[in-house]
Amino acid sequence: MGATVIVGTQWGDEGKGKFTDLLARDMTQVVRFQGGHNAGHTIVVEGESFALQLVPSGILYPHITPVIGNGVVVDPGVLLAEVAMLQSKGVDTSTLRVSGNAHLIFPYHQSLDALHERHLGKNKLGTTKRGIGPAYADKSMRTGLRVQDVLDEKIFRAKLEVVLHQLNPVMNRVYNKLGFEIDEIVERVMTEYRPALEPMVTDAISLVHGALEGGEDILLEGAQATFLDLDHGTYPYVTSSNPTAGGACVGSGVGPRYIDRVVGVAKAYITRVGAGPFPTELFDDIGDHIVDVGHEYGTNTGRRRRPGWFDCVMMRYARRVNSLSELGITKLDVLDQLDSIKVCVGYEHDGERIDDFPYHQTVLHNVTPIYEELPGWRTDLTGITDRSELPAAAADYLTFIEEHCGMPVRLVGVGPGREQVLDFAA
Ligand code: GDP
Ligand code: IMO
Ligand code: MG
Repeated sequence: MGATVIVGTQWGDEGKGKFTDLLARDMTQVVRFQGGHNAGHTIVVEGESFALQLVPSGILYPHITPVIGNGVVVDPGVLLAEVAMLQSKGVDTSTLRVSGNAHLIFPYHQSLDALHERHLGKNKLGTTKRGIGPAYADKSMRTGLRVQDVLDEKIFRAKLEVVLHQLNPVMNRVYNKLGFEIDEIVERVMTEYRPALEPMVTDAISLVHGALEGGEDILLEGAQATFLDLDHGTYPYVTSSNPTAGGACVGSGVGPRYIDRVVGVAKAYITRVGAGPFPTELFDDIGDHIVDVGHEYGTNTGRRRRPGWFDCVMMRYARRVNSLSELGITKLDVLDQLDSIKVCVGYEHDGERIDDFPYHQTVLHNVTPIYEELPGWRTDLTGITDRSELPAAAADYLTFIEEHCGMPVRLVGVGPGREQVLDFAA
């Protein structure tokens, strides 16, 4: 009885959606605890693909109550479009609940996101332009509007007035842009969004703790990843929330003593979308091969993801800051055709070996990875259903990762499908 946390251990898109869907089989609730529609979590069931941005990845099971936690930033239009998409595919969304304390994203957040990026010029972060940073900034400034505000038009309007009173002169005078019309936003939210949103809005603390106190198991689903964490990632090339395990507590209202398992999800290599340092980045044919075979283009924005070799230095750091109990490795099959595979086991900087992820950005930008080269398996893994069927070289690759990262590998993905997983704990 307790909570399992799923976090990304690299720069996102590790396959958190797929493993959340898998582990949700034995849970009663799945709670998204941070991020917004910058996330794109894919689940593939019987050949049908579901790309989820805000709705927790447990939605496909009738026995799951999916909860959007207080730590998430919600664009109501995107949420309702996603619900409509799921309904059109025959998914029952009636159990979906949204914390009244989650913050809202409005069109002005998206405009500000794009404007900030433009003003950064060549130093831009490569955000998803979904308004994530500006929405979390409003939350920190205590001027954000929350989901519960939608339930009271007077309060909603009054709070929005305060925001626009400050924002519109900035739009006009700093950015030379038109301001935002309060009536237009209020009208849209109250007529288009409120009727559909209202039945979902809930006291998520009572809901989640009711389950925990009743002895049920729940899953806390992270978006983004450890190295995109506002505090622990490669700042400023990060997102504006805490995707690490501590964020799961804050963003769901579940205290640390309920958490009994923290699953870190990692690809068998690494990808990153957006700007920022990436020690093991590949700029050669092998990188192109990984992008091609792994279909490494954003679920959400369609951008090409930057590929690189698996990095144990990063993984040891991720183990520490998340207190990971285990790893789930995805996309092992993407490496099927390679003759040999490199794994980064340490960094070199100024002639010295570094085993811990450097806190200093100047160091991080200038490290050279120290690789060990392992033989490839040159076998199609996509049809494998049991650990015992893995070729020796693939099993050795996983053992190497376990030894150099200091934690067990429990789940291994060998294809996008729900069933294409080897469960080492089974
Ligand atoms: P998330 O953001 O962490 O949930 O990951 P994404 O859904 O953005 O990206 C992962 C991509 O890899 C999706 O297209 C998945 O369908 C796919 N995928 C997940 N696991 C595997 C795997 O084991 N093998 C292969 N080939 N694809 C996988
Ligand atoms: P999932 O949950 C990969 C990246 C963006 C950019 C940085 C900041 O699918 O793994 P933001 O819009 O959040 O302000 O952008 O973070 N980023 C992601 N990269 N997967 C994600 O989500 C991401 N969410 C944000 O590309 O570099
Ligand atoms: Mg993704």
